[in-house]
Amino acid sequence: MIDLAEAQPRGTDLTQPQFRGARPPAQTAALAAEIRALKRQHNAVILAHNYQVPEIQDVADFVGDSLGLAQQAAGTSADVIVFCGVHFMAETAKILNPGKVVILPDLAAGCSLEESCPAPELAKLQATNPNFYTIAYINCSAAVKALSDVIVTSGNAEKIVRAAPKDRDLLFVPDENLGQWVMEQTGRPMTLWRGNCYAHVEFQAGVIRRARAAYPDAKIVVHPESLREVRNLADAVCSTEKMVTYCRTSPAKRFVIVTESGIIHRMQKECPGKEFLCAPVYDVMRMPTDNCRCSECRYMKLNTLEKLRDCMKHLAPRLELPADILAKARAPIERMLEISARH
Ligand code: 13P
Ligand code: SF4
Repeated sequence: MIDLAEAQPRGTDLTQPQFRGARPPAQTAALAAEIRALKRQHNAVILAHNYQVPEIQDVADFVGDSLGLAQQAAGTSADVIVFCGVHFMAETAKILNPGKVVILPDLAAGCSLEESCPAPELAKLQATNPNFYTIAYINCSAAVKALSDVIVTSGNAEKIVRAAPKDRDLLFVPDENLGQWVMEQTGRPMTLWRGNCYAHVEFQAGVIRRARAAYPDAKIVVHPESLREVRNLADAVCSTEKMVTYCRTSPAKRFVIVTESGIIHRMQKECPGKEFLCAPVYDVMRMPTDNCRCSECRYMKLNTLEKLRDCMKHLAPRLELPADILAKARAPIERMLEISARH
């Protein structure tokens, strides 16, 4: 058997995406053991998003969607929160726990939705209508959260929009696709910010139609950050956590998953005997230059087991936020958690 790690030229960085999985299993196990020891040493909790690489999911205390992660962060008794996801998620954990140390494996793990909505631009738009009630998807900066009335995730957006004051003009930021989907579900008109998730808008209707034709028995499960033409072809449109529940409870045996491919790991673990097909982001006629046609979020995939170990060793990089932002961003997140918990 060829040892892939040995086969790499000297100096190759095995943490880079093209070499992921090339680390010898014994080295992965040793890293995981080191991380578990650091967790005990610091009384830390590791929270990981569903899009993280399998080996990070496997050492985490909790793996879930943005809502589940915010709920875990709100209720943790750990001294240190280690956030394996992207920057805005770690910010949310810090806003809910200003006195705790919040660290993340890679500070550069951003989000195209967050980038699309700078706080000064939002403030300018808000100034045009004092009756705006600003609903911000959690995929935004802490500064945008501080300007918002309530936060939503893909798991609770519909419920929260239904609960929004009837006499206000709703402004939804920054994901136009999620916003459009919520408008369709609730019938409530909203002004939509023109942002999107670069990874989800790559899915095209033609590819999904071909998947339907090739696997007529499969259920097609789509994330609401996807384009309307793709959502319209779905058997279910839901957050990543609800996707896992849908696949577990559905009598179907095969599923086409239209979201970031990291989620497949949980599905395979939690739904034995079922088959998961990762929807390709490219049409067969438009092959990309690399070999992988699954959708990967380049920000989520910046995190590696090595960087996780290092951040826990040094308790850095740390998430810090200005005191005024910390204070102002808390109320809209707490409002979300409160409405979410209602029956
Ligand atoms: P959820 O896991 O909350 O559905 O969100 C998906 C996502 O894109 C997170 O960045
Ligand atoms: Fe942002 Fe999209 Fe990546 Fe989620 S998948 S973190 S929305 S860029």
